[in-house]
Formats: sequence, structure tokens, C-alpha cells
Amino acid sequence: MGEEKELRVRRIKNGTVIDHITAGQALNVIKILGLPDASEGVVSILLNSPGEHGKKDVVKIENRELKVTEVDRIALIAPNATINIIRNFNVSQKKKVHIPEFMEGVIRCINPNCISNSNEPITSKFNVTVDDDMPKLRCTYCGRVISENIAKHLL
Ligand SMILES: Nc1ncnc2c1ncn2[C@@H]1O[C@H](COP(=O)(O)OP(=O)(O)OP(=O)(O)O)[C@@H](O)[C@H]1O
Ligand SMILES: [Mg+2]
Ligand SMILES: [Zn+2]
Repeated sequence: MGEEKELRVRRIKNGTVIDHITAGQALNVIKILGLPDASEGVVSILLNSPGEHGKKDVVKIENRELKVTEVDRIALIAPNATINIIRNFNVSQKKKVHIPEFMEGVIRCINPNCISNSNEPITSKFNVTVDDDMPKLRCTYCGRVISENIAKHLL
């Protein structure tokens, strides 16, 4: 007691801050990005951070920008996330993620009998709608709907 010390995560010079991630989804975001990867830069993960609208997770990645396919996957599990590009310590670009209306080869259908789960060379395809902020995926082959635990079904 008495001795006050402050510990701060160092600011990123160049890289990406994924902010406003739905609390609890940061580790799924890490998985989508293929991390951890020892050949990459520093990654900081903030869980249950108090935000303006309740708890959120934040992921900060040095020296990395995200691919469109990665951002699309993140949108499915964290629809309120923002992608901030950091250049020379400043936010140089801020984008809200956008849930795509159609996703191919991203999610495995939960219907074991679906043709997309057979030995045929068929890529999974889903039409995506948003219901109360929650994405709802409908398989274009069998019509099965996935609306919960989407992260579990990512390919
Ligand atoms: N150089 C940096 N290194 C690490 N994190 C940063 C850096 N610059 C900004 N951030 C983080 O990036 C996020 C976005 O920064 P910004 O300054 O735009 O905050 P904001 O105004 O609260 O944004 P929003 O309105 O999207 O919540 C914040 O979480 C902030 O802490
Ligand atoms: Mg903020
Ligand atoms: Zn199906």
C-alpha cells in the first residue's frame, strides 16, 4: 500500500486496434486472425473492458492490417466491432465492420446430412440476415438456420 504505480500497455506505432468487440469474443477474433503466430508482432488482448455501452473486448495487433475475409468473419461474431488502422501512433482510419449478406466457405452447416458436409467438392454457402443485432445464417443447400454460437462453426 502507499506506493502508487501505473502500468500501461505501450501504444502501437503501426497496426490495427479492433475495438468494441462483443465481450467474450476476443479469443475467437484471435483464432480468426490465425494468432498466436510467433513470427508476428505484439498482440494485446483486453477482456471485459468497461465501455460506453457496457463491457467490451479489445484486440491490438502491431504491424498488421486485416484482410477483407478476416473482417467479414469478425463481423459475424462481433457485429459492433470497429477496425482502427494505426499509423505513426494515430488512428488513421476507422471502419465499422459490416455483416456480409452472403458467405461462402466460412461456416460449416450444422446439418450433418447437408450436401455441403458430404464428400462432394461443395463449398458451404449461407445467406445472412440480421435479427436484433444477431446474425442469422441460412444454408442455401438445406435451409438449416444457424443463429447461436456462430464462432463454433467457423471453418
Ligand atoms: N497508438 C495506439 N496504440 C494503441 N491503441 C490505440 C492507439 N490509438 C488509439 N488506440 C485505441 O484505438 C481505439 C480507437 O481510438 P479512438 O481515439 O478513435 O477512440 P474513440 O474516440 O473512443 O473511438 P470510438 O468512438 O470508436 O470508440 C481506442 O480503443 C484507443 O484506445
Ligand atoms: Mg471509444
Ligand atoms: Zn446445409
